Amino acid sequence: MKVFERITEFRNEINEHKRNGRTIGFVPTMGYLHEGHLSLIEKARAENDIVVVSIFVNPLQFGPAEDYDSYPRDLGHDKGIAEKAGADYIFAPSVPEMYPTPPSVTATVKERTDVLCGKSRPGHFDGVATVLTKLFNIVLPDKAYFGQKDAQQVAVIEGLIKDFNFPVKLVPVETVREEDGLAKSSRNVFLTSAERKEATALHESLIAARAAIENGNRDPETIIELMKKIIETRTSGKIDYIEIYTYPELKPIDVLEGRFIIALAVRFSAARLIDNMLFDV
Ligand code: PAJ
Repeated sequence: MKVFERITEFRNEINEHKRNGRTIGFVPTMGYLHEGHLSLIEKARAENDIVVVSIFVNPLQFGPAEDYDSYPRDLGHDKGIAEKAGADYIFAPSVPEMYPTPPSVTATVKERTDVLCGKSRPGHFDGVATVLTKLFNIVLPDKAYFGQKDAQQVAVIEGLIKDFNFPVKLVPVETVREEDGLAKSSRNVFLTSAERKEATALHESLIAARAAIENGNRDPETIIELMKKIIETRTSGKIDYIEIYTYPELKPIDVLEGRFIIALAVRFSAARLIDNMLFDV
């Protein structure tokens, strides 16, 4: 596995593979890799000749009061995990390498951002779309792998690829969880040990919602109330949102039918966690 920090040198290498007709699978990350990232890399490994993992904590997608400075970073640890999962390349540019000057052109996401994390993190998805535009142009992937844990991100990237005509196939990958159901996240390290125990209530609230839906409940408000009660009684976290929308359009839904998503975000003392479940009924 090779590690590149410079765009020009990395592009020379990629161009060589392109000339030889090799397919490129791309897993964009912000590092501090865990088993969630690993499953994306393994899937990319199984489906492509060359696998590229990018590691870049993108300042553009963090709000001024968010955790850009404290976001966990450990390139040494990441190299071990990426190599074990079968990556051929890590592309880990510095901030000045990616943004030598403040960008004069950025992407603005117009749809699917007025709800969920887009609402509580203004500008976040513009930052994601901008960095992915750059990374797609640098890595030239045939397929790009994204986790369904960030379901709104998948919906936004689907729009980005379609609207900007990137010749890239988006591959969504199912959420990887801890044994007790908590979705794996680089931010879980910020939970206190008491919060870590409480945090299982997030996934359990989704399971309770699924059971109610399977029992025939079709009313979004009843489902949201049920989940709210579970999270409020079982955790010290503050609910940021529990919402239900059509998926991937993220439009309001009155009766729970068709494809929809139940998504939630909960703030703990030093970490904001998200989770979701997709339905097709
Ligand atoms: P990051 O949070 O590092 O996540 C990288 C990829 O790993 C995303 O596609 C995310 O959905 C996926 N992922 C995270 N936890 C997962 C889990 N438990 N199961 C399955 N997949 C999981 O998302 C980003 O970085 C950034 O926004 C990025 C796309 C790299 C743009 O900067």
